[in-house]
Amino acid sequence: MINLKDKSAIVTGGARGIGKGIALKLGSLGANLVIADLNEDSINSCVTELKGLGYKAIGVKCDVSKEEDAVNLIDSCQKEYGKVDILVNNAGITKDTLLMRMKKEQWDAVISVNLTGTFNCTHAAIKYMLKQRSGAIVNLSSISGENGNIGQTNYSASKAGVIGFTKACALELASRGIRVNAIAPGFIATEMTAAIPENIRNGMVNAIPLKRAGVPEDIANAVAFLSSDSSSFITGHILDVNGGGFLPGIGGA
Ligand SMILES: NC(=O)c1ccc[n+]([C@@H]2O[C@H](COP(=O)([O-])OP(=O)(O)OC[C@H]3O[C@@H](n4cnc5c(N)ncnc54)[C@H](O)[C@@H]3O)[C@@H](O)[C@H]2O)c1
Repeated sequence: MINLKDKSAIVTGGARGIGKGIALKLGSLGANLVIADLNEDSINSCVTELKGLGYKAIGVKCDVSKEEDAVNLIDSCQKEYGKVDILVNNAGITKDTLLMRMKKEQWDAVISVNLTGTFNCTHAAIKYMLKQRSGAIVNLSSISGENGNIGQTNYSASKAGVIGFTKACALELASRGIRVNAIAPGFIATEMTAAIPENIRNGMVNAIPLKRAGVPEDIANAVAFLSSDSSSFITGHILDVNGGGFLPGIGGA
């Protein structure tokens, strides 16, 4: 049985979608939560919901692509709960278009949130985790980072970068009791994937061997495992949560 009682857990992009699903799951297992997101109203409504369920939660407005925001986020967790046990680097964006049409700004935006944001938060968190000699970090990669995907050169590169970052961090931090793993989701029904045209979306779901779209809980269950002592001998691992995967090059997040 996974138990996160009294563990502090930061979830970036935690106000909606997969991040909110992760917060709900970790809270249900006893974790004290820090919800980081861009928009104050959505943070507040998420924190109110979590508190209504009896979980401890605070919200921090944070753009993970900004180093000072990431530092403030991690410091807020330390200040509130006295430690930084779990960091879930979930915040992510897409700016899909074919490479021949991609503007430099679309490339930069995706890399700076998905990859640099993961670096910023991890870099700030290990300051405390190294002192504690413990910690669990779970990064959100993607099937697109493993397989590549048409229309997602920026996103695929950022999520492949997250895989390399995860593996290198795991090696550097293992001797200090800090584990670093990643999850590579396939198609998960959230606002991010709702932006994909319906006919393409249906084709993607049909191509999944388990014949359904994933839901945020599918990812949350995997995050709960990787952030708990139940996975204490696992680090540097990339866990596919994708219903059996689907063919590359037909769209995805
Ligand atoms: N939905 C999928 O099919 C899928 C598949 C593979 C990977 N993922 C990854 O899972 C993660 C969550 O995806 P989702 O589907 O829930 O997306 P979503 O768009 O529904 O939610 C993302 C959340 O991150 C927040 N966010 C965006 N930029 C941010 C920033 N700079 N700083 C802080 N917060 C920021 C958003 O405000 C939002 O609340 C992302 O990293 C995404 O790339 C999703």
